[in-house]
Amino acid sequence: MKHRIEVWAPATVANMNVGFDALGCALSAPGERMILHRTSDAGDVRIRAIHGADLDVDPEKNVATIAAKSLLESLGNPCGLELEIFKSILPGSGIGSSAASAAAAVVGVNALLDAGLRPDELIPFALDGESFASGARHADNVAPALLGGLVICPPEGPPVAIPALENWSLVILHPHVPIKTSEARAVLPDQVKLKDAAVQAAWFGTFVAACHRGDDTAAAYALEDLLVGPHRSPLIPHYEEIRSVAFAHGARAGGISGSGPSTFWVALDASTAEGIAQVLSDLMQQHSVAFSIHISAISGRGAHPIS
Ligand code: HSE
Repeated sequence: MKHRIEVWAPATVANMNVGFDALGCALSAPGERMILHRTSDAGDVRIRAIHGADLDVDPEKNVATIAAKSLLESLGNPCGLELEIFKSILPGSGIGSSAASAAAAVVGVNALLDAGLRPDELIPFALDGESFASGARHADNVAPALLGGLVICPPEGPPVAIPALENWSLVILHPHVPIKTSEARAVLPDQVKLKDAAVQAAWFGTFVAACHRGDDTAAAYALEDLLVGPHRSPLIPHYEEIRSVAFAHGARAGGISGSGPSTFWVALDASTAEGIAQVLSDLMQQHSVAFSIHISAISGRGAHPIS
């Protein structure tokens, strides 16, 4: 019987311009660690410590404990748990901080108890936690955090993995201006024009087809955002300038990561990505905006035990 397990879960980019609430990918970096300890208090889930972020340790108000408790209950509460959470993905960053915590928690419980559930079977339990943070039950962060790679989340049925783009290098710029997902959803319209919806659907289909052909360039070209980005970009400091600097230095596509404030910029090789990261860092410094920047590939690896 295992008494302790350590797990890792990736950051994720949701929406990816073409698939609002329906598409996401796992990043190779950053990621988040969590240690789960088995206790004898059946069904009791607590937080031992949270490192790296000032988050609520009340188990009723924490994404990880809610997700862990949900899965533990479905397994018959054979034990209790204490969670030690190492937040290296800042909350409110738009790169799936809460989804990484929820994914790590359920992967940890699954492994600690040798429950044998597949990653896609863990999604509903992770969503119980994630929806507490985001105010909506969408799996476009949680599914790639669990499955890895590029994942479509259909309105019904299981997630659909699509071939990831091996030559893409993503530059993730995170200005340290927290935006709550609920606030970023509140600026979106209830209705969109039929013409825009049709064009967006065509770009989404074109993107998926390009992924299946392994055509990195065509996939990047298809990442048009007609429905969501235009409403959210005013929330992100210096968005238009970030976009034009990234494109001027070789980005082939880009936009808002999830609900922001992070943005993602697609380069087709690592040295272009490094150049983009440098100029975006310079831009943030010129504007005195605190930020983090990451260069990442799409990772085929979802959340998994590391000990
Ligand atoms: N699809 C979600 C949104 C992702 O854009 O609101 C954020 O969790």
